[in-house]
Amino acid sequence: MAHPDRFLLAGVMGWPVMHSRSPLLHNYWFKRHDLAGTYVPLAIRPEGLAAALRALHPLGFAGCNLTIPHKQQAMTIVDEVDTVAKRIGAISCVVVRPDGSLAGSNNDCYGFIHNLKQEQPGWRADAGPIVVLGAGGGSRAVCYGLLQEDAKEIRLLNRTLARAKGIAAEFGSRIVVLPWEERHDALEGAAMVVNTTSQGMVGQPALDIRLDKLPKTALAADIIYTPLETPFLAAARQRGSRTVNGLGMLLHQGRPAWKAWFGIEPEVTAELRALMEKSVLSDS
Ligand code: ATR
Repeated sequence: MAHPDRFLLAGVMGWPVMHSRSPLLHNYWFKRHDLAGTYVPLAIRPEGLAAALRALHPLGFAGCNLTIPHKQQAMTIVDEVDTVAKRIGAISCVVVRPDGSLAGSNNDCYGFIHNLKQEQPGWRADAGPIVVLGAGGGSRAVCYGLLQEDAKEIRLLNRTLARAKGIAAEFGSRIVVLPWEERHDALEGAAMVVNTTSQGMVGQPALDIRLDKLPKTALAADIIYTPLETPFLAAARQRGSRTVNGLGMLLHQGRPAWKAWFGIEPEVTAELRALMEKSVLSDS
């Protein structure tokens, strides 16, 4: 039997990391493309991040993804950070270049937007006002992606007003900051609403929002994928809205990572979605 000259390696660094669904996703693509390689969870403590990233090259890794709590700290370690990651303020993906230097990028906003386009063909960011709830890292990626797609007005609401104001100050006047207390009314006339808060995630209370002012034609999205349908999405669906959960964002952010690591753009197929959904459901 012929042996490939190289075993392809990538992984995800996080702390904790064992809950990550990324290995299932990437190992599906290795199999699908009939490649000898693997994608591993790498449990890296924050104080070990620099050494771990520098070890990627000597170990022969093509690169890695980063998850909580490393996305910001990695910016100070890698050799180059691309424009998108700089604007979002976080790195989700590291690529080891041939000379061993490390390039950081952020594929979260790509994942969010391309999943929307796959799941909701015909979706347009400029179809009407968009309400974004939350102002953490996830929100920054979502807002950046929506603005790139030509969103005209993003109503941004966050429990801590100053964080939302910070995003508006950086991203410009198409972001309109409203106080958290106005979240119910802010839905009036919206074409889309996105939850980027942690509310509704497994172990967290549901997002506290009334949807009576949300037009039935509006699209409701959540970046959470555990559970697959948050109480917020369930309520929107029951009122007749179309919904998009957070799983597809995870699936799609893997595509540019693969392009950069292995020169292949893998597909997000129905089979892959079903596999990932089954894995999430088996935990709940
Ligand atoms: P991430 O980087 O994953 O977005 P994060 O930076 O911790 O995570 O952000 C979590 C988001 O959920 C924030 O917008 C947070 O609001 P604050 O900025 O006020 O902390 C929001 N959030 C967390 N708990 C919340 C709660 N009980 N009610 C409303 N929003 C909440």
